[in-house]
Amino acid sequence: MTHPEDRDRRPVVVGITGASGSLIALHTISALLDNDVPVVASASSAARIVWKQEMQESFGEVLERWTDSGIFSYHGASEIAAPIASGTFSTRGMVLAPCSMATVAAISQGLADNLIRRAADVTIKERRPLIIIPRESPLSVIHLENLTRLAALGATIIPPEPAFYLRHQTIEDVAEFAAQRTLLALGVISELPVAMRYESS
Ligand SMILES: Cc1cc2nc3c(=O)[nH]c(=O)nc-3n(C[C@H](O)[C@H](O)[C@H](O)COP(=O)(O)O)c2cc1C
Repeated sequence: MTHPEDRDRRPVVVGITGASGSLIALHTISALLDNDVPVVASASSAARIVWKQEMQESFGEVLERWTDSGIFSYHGASEIAAPIASGTFSTRGMVLAPCSMATVAAISQGLADNLIRRAADVTIKERRPLIIIPRESPLSVIHLENLTRLAALGATIIPPEPAFYLRHQTIEDVAEFAAQRTLLALGVISELPVAMRYESS
């Protein structure tokens, strides 16, 4: 049995970018906090614009709720001097949820021009787990080449697709599935919840 003091208290970094799918950020961060995993999050200005369009609860209200957990902290994407900008700050890895093609392009080229991109650059150079939940359709050759480069560097790419075999009914189901797959890729959980596993009939 794991002793409480032996638990991994390093945070997971979550970058929220301006791709459609703010719900994915909500489910991913909530699932990490529900599993008692500390989170350091950052959102770009585009992410906040998209959030306003897609979500009922304001970003500020959700930030307050996450902060109440006691294991959540937040930096704006312009706060380039935040601890997660340095490789000396230990983390369990990083998730980009959702990830825009602009951020995919930037990090595939080592362009660390805001806190989210710098933290991703650090995650790659320190060889820590990097999970990317990209959102764009259709995907151009530019997008695919940039994603391929990141996959070759070891990133796990989790498109927020429905698991058709699970017969998802809502976009909440799809966002939760992407969140649980992310937790699995990070090693926070060792297997998907039973209801999310494929079973042959
Ligand atoms: C409502 C809205 C939806 C968007 N959806 C996407 C998207 O799904 N995928 C994408 O790559 N960019 C999308 N964009 C464009 C990005 O927000 C834009 O490229 C921005 O510069 C990304 O910056 P960031 O990666 O720093 O957040 C969207 C923009 C808006 C306003």
